[in-house]
Amino acid sequence: MIERKNEVGVIGLSVMGANLAMNIADHGFNISVFNRSSEKTDNLKRSYTNENLMACYSLTEFVESLSAPRKIILMIEAGNPVDLVIEQLKSFLQPGDIVVDGGNSFFKDTIRREKYLRESGINFVGMGVSGGEEGARRGPAIMPGGSELAWKELAPILQKIAAKDFGGNPCVAHIGPDGAGHYVKMVHNGIEYIDMQLIAETYWLMKNVMGLDNEAMAAQFEIWNQGRLNSFLIEITAKILRKKDESGVYVIDTVLDSAGNKGTGKWTSIESLNLGTPSFGFVGAVLARYVSAYKERRLAISSQYENGEKTESSQIDFEQLESALYVAKVLAYAQGYELLSFAGKEYGWDLNFSQISSLWQGGCIIRAKFLQKIAQVLTKSGADKNLMETDYFRDILQYESGNLRKVIISAIQAQIPMAAMISGLVYFDSMKSDRLPANLLQAQRDFFGAHTFQAKINGPFIHYQWE
Ligand code: 6PG
Repeated sequence: MIERKNEVGVIGLSVMGANLAMNIADHGFNISVFNRSSEKTDNLKRSYTNENLMACYSLTEFVESLSAPRKIILMIEAGNPVDLVIEQLKSFLQPGDIVVDGGNSFFKDTIRREKYLRESGINFVGMGVSGGEEGARRGPAIMPGGSELAWKELAPILQKIAAKDFGGNPCVAHIGPDGAGHYVKMVHNGIEYIDMQLIAETYWLMKNVMGLDNEAMAAQFEIWNQGRLNSFLIEITAKILRKKDESGVYVIDTVLDSAGNKGTGKWTSIESLNLGTPSFGFVGAVLARYVSAYKERRLAISSQYENGEKTESSQIDFEQLESALYVAKVLAYAQGYELLSFAGKEYGWDLNFSQISSLWQGGCIIRAKFLQKIAQVLTKSGADKNLMETDYFRDILQYESGNLRKVIISAIQAQIPMAAMISGLVYFDSMKSDRLPANLLQAQRDFFGAHTFQAKINGPFIHYQWE
């Protein structure tokens, strides 16, 4: 018979689940843990002796060990496993209980699950958790969706275990109903992909155009990390470039240039296309990963092409490069918030962009000093403004986008593909163009398909007799 009733439980004790459970126990909460295969439970109990953590070896024991309303956090692989565990749990659950999915689930699955469980009076919360193993253990950024009621029950725990933003506030907030939390996590990952690709392109340009070695590049990233580019990804890039193995070989030079992905950036790209947002950046960053994974085909094709007479690359300096990277980063976030704005209207979520920018300041992969500025700017400007329309970022883009152009020109002359930087510039130039050549597209469509065109905004649709 279970004497102690615990406040919360975690199912799934792989890296993220085990670390989140320890983080929760560290903060004084009594927690039950369960894993389908018991050796992970044994390993955790052996390595972590804090009495707050109670190991359970059956689902029955686990559920019975929890006080009502039960708060059960699933840290399991996204997809069918979540539906499977929900079905296993359902017969045990009472109205008012809360099931939290802390995996990288697709937001539409979360909307479906929330509706399904709500019919039985059970609260389902899709919760983005960002920051990897270290974040889960020491303080992640947490993006819970679901009902207000569920948030009130979870908040005391989540606010204790989350990372802190630059103002010392916990990097967690109730994002909105049903799938809103997983959606914001998905957009976080879309931005993460662009951020990582921009840094990779900058590294590649310093290496191939500026002729820097790993130490020099690491030193440059360390310098930038002291300024407005301060961020987790810049910080780890410097560490990665410096890292040598025991034989003194730079580890980075042993890593195959073929990128993997678990699909979150792809979801963001597909979603941005579904909602009709001009998100060149998300798609560019995903395609850059795809073409890198085409390694064998690239080897076959590259052997058939001379790089041709290499146009002498116009030299760029570190100041221009830092500025180009920062401008491209601003444009990446502009696209991220634009997608969130479209999503809020599409799915009926009242998303608080300043709050999201604050909770992204710590714990998560895109954590960066710059997010403090975004939070301030969006508080002042109001959520529906594109970052490009805010005074602060408009001035930066107006006066520094020339550096992005110069860096891209230099890369083009060196035949270095800069998918993320070029996507950002295309987005920028498109969004600030009062006219684009789409009039010709409309004329062509009407010529061959009588698809009609307008002569002015909101004007009547016309079919013209072109021949
Ligand atoms: C995070 C990360 C994490 C994601 C990894 C791998 O926020 O902690 O985004 O959720 O799984 O970044 O993602 P990819 O394999 O898609 O790069």
